[in-house]
Amino acid sequence: MKRIGIILTAMMLMMTGMTAAQAGQETLVYASTFGAGTDLWYARGAQKVYHTTEATLRTEGRTSDWNSPGRNFELAAGTKYDMSVEVLQNDAETATLMVSVQVTKEDGSPDWKNLFKGEAKKGEWTTLSGSYTPDPSEEYVLYVETVGAPELSYEIRNFRVVAPDGVPDAQPTATPAAEAVPEGEMPSLKDVYAGKFDFGTALPRNAFNDLQLLKLVKAQFNILTPENEMKPDAILDVYGSKKLAEKDETAVAVRFDACKTLLRFAQANGLKVHGHTLLWHNQTPEALFHEGYDTSRPMASREVMLGRMENYIREVLTWTEENYPGVIVSWDVVNEAIDDGTNKLRTGANWYKTVGPDYLARAFEYARKYAAEGVLLYYNDYNTAYSGKLYGIVDLLKSLIAEGNIDGYGFQMHHSLGEPSMDMITRAVEKIAALGLRLRVSELDINAGKATEKNFESQKNKYKQVMKLMLRFKDQTEAVQVWGVTDIMSWRRDGNPLLFDKNMNPKPAFFGVIEAGQED
Ligand code: XIL
Repeated sequence: MKRIGIILTAMMLMMTGMTAAQAGQETLVYASTFGAGTDLWYARGAQKVYHTTEATLRTEGRTSDWNSPGRNFELAAGTKYDMSVEVLQNDAETATLMVSVQVTKEDGSPDWKNLFKGEAKKGEWTTLSGSYTPDPSEEYVLYVETVGAPELSYEIRNFRVVAPDGVPDAQPTATPAAEAVPEGEMPSLKDVYAGKFDFGTALPRNAFNDLQLLKLVKAQFNILTPENEMKPDAILDVYGSKKLAEKDETAVAVRFDACKTLLRFAQANGLKVHGHTLLWHNQTPEALFHEGYDTSRPMASREVMLGRMENYIREVLTWTEENYPGVIVSWDVVNEAIDDGTNKLRTGANWYKTVGPDYLARAFEYARKYAAEGVLLYYNDYNTAYSGKLYGIVDLLKSLIAEGNIDGYGFQMHHSLGEPSMDMITRAVEKIAALGLRLRVSELDINAGKATEKNFESQKNKYKQVMKLMLRFKDQTEAVQVWGVTDIMSWRRDGNPLLFDKNMNPKPAFFGVIEAGQED
């Protein structure tokens, strides 16, 4: 009987087009939980924010009032929210703490509003509370800062957001591809490709100082790759490893300072991340391959190197998953193992020299062992369109497929207008697709040469054809990612190879990619 009553109520609410929350009822929008982690709160400055064993969120190492813990919230403009938070500080007799919000103005620049504040006496949990009815904004970051106490350390707990009159129904999300683009408004790559595959970019660390660029990134892309910050030379702590090696030669020390900003940005804004790269012959400290992590000593044995490989892969996969659960959806396990001359494994690579030809199989085995469920494991390489290398890559992929731990192949596609031809690219994609692997274009850029109208038209054409090709395989393709946003930030900047010019204006190539998506 009770059950039927519930169903009837639900049906009535559905018929009137209301949710339970909309029916004027007080709705709990958010209650913090710092028991297991930071609950998506992050440091808004260079300070430290972490959860404590008492299930509070502690902030320390501050140098400015705004260096505070903050969190993105989905708020509805025009809806009243009652908010409260408990704060604790032990540094001063009394200190003023304040809840503020960062919003985005129409032109994309940030704006700040102070909401409510209170005096926290030393050692006493103090509740701050107030109300906020937001104006429209693309995002709302609520944060707990100080007033005139830039170095104060403090803790927060029980951050609550309640809508006393309920919240409106979630806006139905329109199918992006079907949405007409208003005149003068820029279409969005990720929206045009929604339902087909993800569209992303690589971003270097310094991109995170540029608010305008980040706004463009959020509008255009839904998956990111750190351009350099997750490579072994960014993550491996050689000094720390050397110390550990005194007791255990296979131990590996790691640090993630370089890639944290990107992971936090992705997490806070709901973007995915593709990890690049666990093993590579480049951008990897030579010391990793030597006894005692000491380049003056001989190279380490196969056993030691297998131990270091497993430890490194485990550390990286578990740290990223524990700290940013679900954010990294796929990894390049090994990058560029095939030699351009011989089309066989690069024998000069240190992993090959120390472990031997089965190093890729072992790397995939360890990656599978420690990767969270559903995380896709890729082999990534360049020049796939050249027939000799293509065959070498296909052979390698077949052997890895036989081992059962590889999910996909990543085409780098650092191309030019003439080379390689569309026929060559097409044949390579067809050949690899026939292996049944998942596909991704991991690092797309197409050199145009000088920035002339003619070159940019040819570039548009090639981008469009590449996209049409990948759309033929859309059921097998996870993502296409350009290797950078604006020409000026490209590693091949002389060739103007990307979709946006240095002023962040879309180039013809951008519209080529959009058109391919819209015509599909
Ligand atoms: C490049 C970066 O873009 C540069 O900033 C860096 O100096 C060198 O590496 N293939 C890859 C990428 O897998 O990691 C490379 O990235 C480009 C070629």
